[in-house]
Amino acid sequence: MTSKTKVAVLISGRGSNMEALVRAAQDPACPFEIALVLANKPEAGGLATASAAGIEALCVDQKPFGKDRAAHEHAIDAALRERGIEVVALAGYMRILTPFLVDAWAGRMLNIHPSLLPAYPGLNTHARALAAGDAEAGCTVHLVTAGVDEGPVLGQARVTVLPGDDEHALASRVLEQEHRLYPKALADFVRAL
Ligand code: GAR
Repeated sequence: MTSKTKVAVLISGRGSNMEALVRAAQDPACPFEIALVLANKPEAGGLATASAAGIEALCVDQKPFGKDRAAHEHAIDAALRERGIEVVALAGYMRILTPFLVDAWAGRMLNIHPSLLPAYPGLNTHARALAAGDAEAGCTVHLVTAGVDEGPVLGQARVTVLPGDDEHALASRVLEQEHRLYPKALADFVRAL
């Protein structure tokens, strides 16, 4: 059997996309394994979820590094390299990266974003889609490059905006699609490496 690609998932919060990736990786036919879940904050709920699933859950707390984001990223990068990580999947990692980590993992770092990029990079994507009166919303998996929420698109999933949708309702329908899209896009990406 060929060995599976070692993936680290970077989170900042509840980690539901991370869970979807972990579930997908349990399929023997899945081409990746989740070898590490790493958070930038100790209170990230996904750390406990990952531990409970038997996955190494590591916090590289940003706090002691203060404003020195590159130093924090050097610590993250060292943790990734020590474990032989091959691909990094950002999943609700809510800190803007410096060129150091982006360059270190160029072509090997993916992100999921809750909009149909290039529409609505940044925050509050669902509120912005609703305010614009969009008929469709969705999510995007893309390669991470220097610009925030830019980079080549690897996959998208669409949902119809329904009459009466509020931000919460739309976010939860998009999130369901995120949980389908990310495992598939990551598996396709890893198979093509
Ligand atoms: C997800 O909706 C993800 O797309 C979004 O944060 C949420 C994290 O949820 N990411 C971004 O907005 C990145 N720009 P999760 O922790 O349950 O996966």
